[in-house]
Amino acid sequence: MTAPYPRLAARKRIAVLISGRGSNLPSLLGNDLGGDVVVIGSNKADAKGLDIARDAGIAHFVVSHKDFETREAFDAALVAALNEYRPDLVVLAGFMRITTPVFTQAFAARLINIHPSLLPSFPGLHTHARALQEGVKLHGCTVHFVTPELDRGPIIAQAAVQVEDDDTADTLAAKVLRQEQQIFPYAVRLFCDGRLRVDGLRVTTLPKSTTPVIATAAARV
Ligand code: GAR
Repeated sequence: MTAPYPRLAARKRIAVLISGRGSNLPSLLGNDLGGDVVVIGSNKADAKGLDIARDAGIAHFVVSHKDFETREAFDAALVAALNEYRPDLVVLAGFMRITTPVFTQAFAARLINIHPSLLPSFPGLHTHARALQEGVKLHGCTVHFVTPELDRGPIIAQAAVQVEDDDTADTLAAKVLRQEQQIFPYAVRLFCDGRLRVDGLRVTTLPKSTTPVIATAAARV
């Protein structure tokens, strides 16, 4: 009879997409995500965040949207590039492209995005300036599963910041980014640990498992 050995949990393979500075990369690479960032991709060859990938010795690639005539063709090429790395999770970390169902369906339920507002308020661009213009007193950021609808999908985590009288779009962006750097690795970790349950637009967090899932060499002999 086979002994009931503890299940060996495979570490999740995480792919990250960026378009610019990669300002969330340090917090993603510097925290225990319960998985490994195996590749960083960009639609822009001059994205500063690719330097972070190079410095960290992480595989990286560029698929330029300018090389494709349609959004769907670009998305298909991006899906192919990502699939080379067999990701369990694809993380959009400042990836500034509107995606099509070609992309969202390829990674359905394993695609998450960070957005610099308290969704469903302020989807789209220029969120900090719009928050100031609307006079909101609380602003923030959201990590959510991606669905075909722009900046909408089951919300995994949010963090709020107070809007002060002297805030500008830049000071707000800096305050929100500090919160992004907290909730993004937290949300990715929840995913990698299999602790997210999605019911419609509602995400609930399962308690930490008390069952040992990592079998050490000692435990197996
Ligand atoms: C982050 O603030 C992220 O929330 C936002 O881009 C910034 C990261 O880009 N993402 C979006 O606006 C997506 N709609 P960066 O790495 O170039 O600073």
